Amino acid sequence: MHNSYSTLQSIRVLIIGNGGREYSIALALQQDKKVKQIFFSPENPAATLFFNAGHFSYSSHDELLAHIQTHKIDFVIIGPEAPLMQGISDFLVHHNILVFGSSYANAKLEGSKAYMKSFIHNLGIPTAKYKEITQGSIEEGYDFIDTLPLPIVLKASGLCGGKGVLILDSKEEAKNKLLLMLEGKLFGDAGKEVVIEEFLDGYELSVFALSNGSDYVVLPACQDHKRLLDDDKGPNTGGMGTYTNLPAKLYNKELETKIKDKILTPTFDALKKMGTPYKGVIFAGIMVVKNEPYLLEYNVRFGDPECEVLMPLLKTSALELMYSYAKGESLESIIFNDICVVCVVMSSSDYVQDSKSSDYPAKISFDNIDPKNITADNGHLVFANTSLKDSILYANSGRSIVAVGKGKSLKEARDNAYTLVGKVDFKGKHYRRDIAYQALQ
Ligand code: AMP
Ligand code: GLY
Repeated sequence: MHNSYSTLQSIRVLIIGNGGREYSIALALQQDKKVKQIFFSPENPAATLFFNAGHFSYSSHDELLAHIQTHKIDFVIIGPEAPLMQGISDFLVHHNILVFGSSYANAKLEGSKAYMKSFIHNLGIPTAKYKEITQGSIEEGYDFIDTLPLPIVLKASGLCGGKGVLILDSKEEAKNKLLLMLEGKLFGDAGKEVVIEEFLDGYELSVFALSNGSDYVVLPACQDHKRLLDDDKGPNTGGMGTYTNLPAKLYNKELETKIKDKILTPTFDALKKMGTPYKGVIFAGIMVVKNEPYLLEYNVRFGDPECEVLMPLLKTSALELMYSYAKGESLESIIFNDICVVCVVMSSSDYVQDSKSSDYPAKISFDNIDPKNITADNGHLVFANTSLKDSILYANSGRSIVAVGKGKSLKEARDNAYTLVGKVDFKGKHYRRDIAYQALQ
């Protein structure tokens, strides 16, 4: 198959989004000599400081287009869901800009859980039993809660940065929270439509597939750690650490085949039939129950921090991969480094708490390491939510820095990640100490 990448000489890439996912994409792009300059929008201060990335911000689609033209940007990679939900991909494609990122029509798979659930339900894709409830149908919601065993899962239908899911141990509490959500008191407008679900008791996988509109390829599966505290305790977060190279007891060819046949292929086929073939990366949040995969959710982007472990795994150029898929082409094969990768998120002490601490921004100190060393064999740092003042980097409130460890085994990769965690400090630094426990226990 013709591959436009092979004739490409040099390229200027814009990454929309400025978190850890986007920083790790930038690190991977930099391994490719064809990448002449990387821009971020909005700015990732660490990328500005450590590898001189360009940056600009925009407040309208037209302003974005003007910046792209001024900076002669050839390729745009969209990281987070919000700009995809704003239809930026469609707008840029309409102006003949090459984009890696889902169309608005397909971004609804993430932007509305109610839409996604009815879409997959109609296709017979295995998923948790559910009911979609709005204020007008609250009595139906109460009745459905009465039919479900505990615990009860309530999900805000709209975007909540991975935090809009409640898992409740009593029916009374579930009904109270349902009312608060529908009144907009818990997640604002995003919670005014609620998906009530049966609880699935299994283990989770993050599975990513790249599609070029006609066919697709699956990347190695990852496991995230969504809860804030060790032993999967505490509130849900955007993700506190991930790893890839899962042991066969958690992921194997048989499971991959089931995920493709029962979930991904029907999804991509249906989107083609609807006239909105999927282009970009799709993220299937899977719960495995008794060896059977159930789809919890779709996201229309790379996971964060899953991207932090997938990018170092790629031996094939990340640019070649995303550029080719954006062009509607595919690669003969995708080659992965023969390593294991584990990452540990360092967050502020107030991450996902309602009340914010005055400790942030907090100055970051590095103990005998070069924070910008992006090619270290045993690991590197990824900078997510930070700010810069007088060339000094500060951790903001939220997920601030991610330590990525690499190794020949998962244990070695995990140990390297935790060694790096120990070399970074800022006030109130919080992290989980049990990343990859399901593989290593
Ligand atoms: P979601 O945003 O739908 O992926 O939900 C966030 C997290 O809540 C998931 O990663 C799971 O840990 C948990 N969760 C969501 N739905 C269910 C379910 N039906 N059963 C058990 N856990 C769930
Ligand atoms: N790490 C989970 C997510 O990106 O939604």
